[in-house]
Amino acid sequence: MPSSVSFSLADLCSAWAHGWTITRETSSPEPLLLAGAHALEVPTPIEDRRIVLPEPTIAAVRAGLAELSSSPDACLRFPGDDDDWRPLLGAGWSLFEPGWFMHRPVMRRTIGEDAEGYEVVVKRSEDHAAVEIWAAAGGGGREIVSHGLIGAARGSAASPAELAGWGTVDQIWTLPEHRQRGLGRRVMLELENAAHGMGLTDLVLTSTPMGLMLYDSCGWSEISRCVWAVTSP
Ligand SMILES: CC(C)(COP(=O)(O)OP(=O)(O)OC[C@H]1O[C@@H](n2cnc3c(N)ncnc32)[C@H](O)[C@@H]1OP(=O)(O)O)[C@@H](O)C(=O)NCCC(=O)NCCS
Repeated sequence: MPSSVSFSLADLCSAWAHGWTITRETSSPEPLLLAGAHALEVPTPIEDRRIVLPEPTIAAVRAGLAELSSSPDACLRFPGDDDDWRPLLGAGWSLFEPGWFMHRPVMRRTIGEDAEGYEVVVKRSEDHAAVEIWAAAGGGGREIVSHGLIGAARGSAASPAELAGWGTVDQIWTLPEHRQRGLGRRVMLELENAAHGMGLTDLVLTSTPMGLMLYDSCGWSEISRCVWAVTSP
């Protein structure tokens, strides 16, 4: 099945939220309306509450900020530019890190000779894939030194049928002492091949500033900036 020829930013954002709950092994997002705009209450193991707004309007962002402002560790995420939305944030809110929504059409990738001396492990189920790169650690043990996950949006009960081909890439990291050796790139290519095997057509992720170079070098495209507003007690 080919990649979605065209998709809306709202679909991309919604797919990201649904797939994210699969990588994080939480229950499905709950659809809700904020000031008439569609929103997703996304269960999260890392914050008190997280709301994602696929189609942010000023009224919906205001309503989201009001809804979450009493939670000490809440997050409101939506496509948009930090500079445009910063003036709307009131006391108790701050912008966490600059973010970008990125997209990659799934293709079968050729894996090169990188990661020599490392063990690459790919685990795949119907809606979830993990890539782990292992190396020897101090004390004679072994440890994961580079890592990535995919969650298929279709694994989320509330995900609309039109997002069935989408997967979210999440938790991409390489331990500092193993960086700039091609391991992150190997993880991304293995994940894309896993996505191909899972029948996915489109991948989405939100990038931090540090991830941009890696994703760019793996053929991902920036679709939009991503606002990441957090409550700060
Ligand atoms: C981002 C991260 C995963 C990159 O991992 P890595 O194993 O060092 O990546 P690679 O060695 O495979 O690099 C892949 C490409 O990205 C580029 N790149 C990676 N980190 C870079 C950096 N700090 N500065 C410049 N380029 C960088 C490499 O030059 C390489 O490009 P090339 O293939 O054209 O040569 C790693 O820096 C990290 O774990 N950062 C902290 C966690 C994080 O921010 N993750 C992203 C979350 S969205």
